[in-house]
Amino acid sequence: MPDQLSKINLDHVPQHIAIIMDGNGRWAKQKGMPRLLGHRSGVKSVREVTEAAAEIGVKYLTLYAFSTENWNRPPAEVTALMTLLVETIKGEIRDLNKNKVRLQAIGDIEALPAATYKALMDGIEQTKNNDRITLVLALNYSAKWEILRATRLIAEQAQKGLLKAEDISESTFESALSTHGIPDPELLIRTSGETRISNFLLWQIAYAELYFTPVFWPDFGRKELHEAILNYQRRERRFGLTSEQVS
Ligand code: FPP
Repeated sequence: MPDQLSKINLDHVPQHIAIIMDGNGRWAKQKGMPRLLGHRSGVKSVREVTEAAAEIGVKYLTLYAFSTENWNRPPAEVTALMTLLVETIKGEIRDLNKNKVRLQAIGDIEALPAATYKALMDGIEQTKNNDRITLVLALNYSAKWEILRATRLIAEQAQKGLLKAEDISESTFESALSTHGIPDPELLIRTSGETRISNFLLWQIAYAELYFTPVFWPDFGRKELHEAILNYQRRERRFGLTSEQVS
């Protein structure tokens, strides 16, 4: 596949891309390696894709790094993933700052193991002034958890008499989500050939273009990101209007 960078219209790059990184395990299995090596190679893709996104002007990149459901994996894999996260965040802070990448997180992060939580909070704190791109890690995240939490927050406000039911708007709801302040993704990518959303950003992807690729996450890099963006740019986004109205 040739690199499609020169064909990308840099004035219409999505400002927010969300990615379901999938296929680390199958990538490793195909090569006769343990699953953890798949996750380790996945970190290389995280680095390359973050740099590539920043280079072409993407402002937010959200990566589904660990879902609420992932706790059900074999305990050794969960521990290895948590350790890998700590190692990666600690090891990348210098480069994140060099590349002006701001780190953020969504999900029930307080329920993460203490070392992971601490590394994450340190990473967020130490990169908070960077403004080239925001890398949002979805950790211990599930969209249903997020929507329920938002509903509870809003119900509490209503119970206290601070909010009337009829005043609850899209923007009230958005400000109660963990993504508040972050624009909705225009493009959602899932690697590895699966064509599911798997409880990721259900509210925020209402109008996102979905892009599914058979490539396993450790093989997804700069070139594959360019291909996905080019595919997105070939589509017509109508938001419920007619073709004539948007042209
Ligand atoms: C999906 O592959 C991948 C994950 C559940 C974990 C993603 C984690 C990383 C890429 C490493 C750490 C990330 C950061 C952001 C530092 P899978 O295990 O579901 O693959 P399979 O479906 O082939 O088994």
